[in-house]
Amino acid sequence: MLTMKTVETTSELKNALDELDRALGFVPTMGYLHEGHLSLVQKAREENTSVAVSIFANPTQFSTDEDLANYPRDIERDIELLAGEGVDLVWIPTVETMYPEGYQTWIEVDRLSTILEGSFRPTHFRGVATVVAKLFNAVSPDKAYFGQKDAQQAAVIKQMVRDLNFHVEIIVCPTVREPDGVAMSSRNIYLGEGERLAARCLSRGLFLASDAFQGGERKAGELKKIVKDEVENESLARLQYVSCADPITLIELEKEVKECLISMAVFIGKTRLIDNLRLGK
Ligand code: PAJ
Repeated sequence: MLTMKTVETTSELKNALDELDRALGFVPTMGYLHEGHLSLVQKAREENTSVAVSIFANPTQFSTDEDLANYPRDIERDIELLAGEGVDLVWIPTVETMYPEGYQTWIEVDRLSTILEGSFRPTHFRGVATVVAKLFNAVSPDKAYFGQKDAQQAAVIKQMVRDLNFHVEIIVCPTVREPDGVAMSSRNIYLGEGERLAARCLSRGLFLASDAFQGGERKAGELKKIVKDEVENESLARLQYVSCADPITLIELEKEVKECLISMAVFIGKTRLIDNLRLGK
């Protein structure tokens, strides 16, 4: 296919999918695309004959005190960027298409959804798992691409795919960062000038922990303390949690670690940012 098709309904989607050659790579997004999203699209382009992308700001993964209405959007720009990456198909469903009146089916990935991010955002991963299952069912991709930036989300999706026998391979791609180390995120747009500078404390903390790990530090508590101290030195930042966990199960590690995922959530003003780094291996 030469030109990119944009569709809205599931029947339009079905017709457009029928015209695409396999293998099909799929990148689910909530739009307001940046280089992080585009890195997933590029990887999908490299590894597949056809590439589909969805843009849907999924209401069920936002809680009532998180403002879905203010989630940044720029569909025209997103479409232009995706056309530039040689994407074949963009699916932009409406809320009514995804959640028609009377909707009542939910996917809960038990343990993984309740820890870390899930303990502060109790309904978040139920919304994510449900919408991703629906997207997978509608698109039937061979491979789907997710970012390491949302490490727990990737773990939840992998678990769901395993548990529910989805025939899709999940590929997790590295976090894309701004030149100063800040992880790219649609939410960075909310940061004022001073806050944007303060946001550096997340990656700075993670990189310092990584340096210490390279230097032989293996105590989970010490690695977490390095991150905590760095955030607490930043007056505009408030640490919500820092974790040193098994990179696969996300179970918190005590004492000595061989490999781990250091992850964190920090409020910069009203904006909640997350970041993580995998250490070892
Ligand atoms: P969204 O935040 O738009 O992110 C879409 C994908 O881009 C996710 O897999 C995310 O991990 C990845 N991503 C975001 N920032 C990145 C960065 N700096 N580097 C690399 N990858 C990055 O995540 C979601 O949407 C939603 O929860 C979704 C999976 C679409 C379900 O609604």
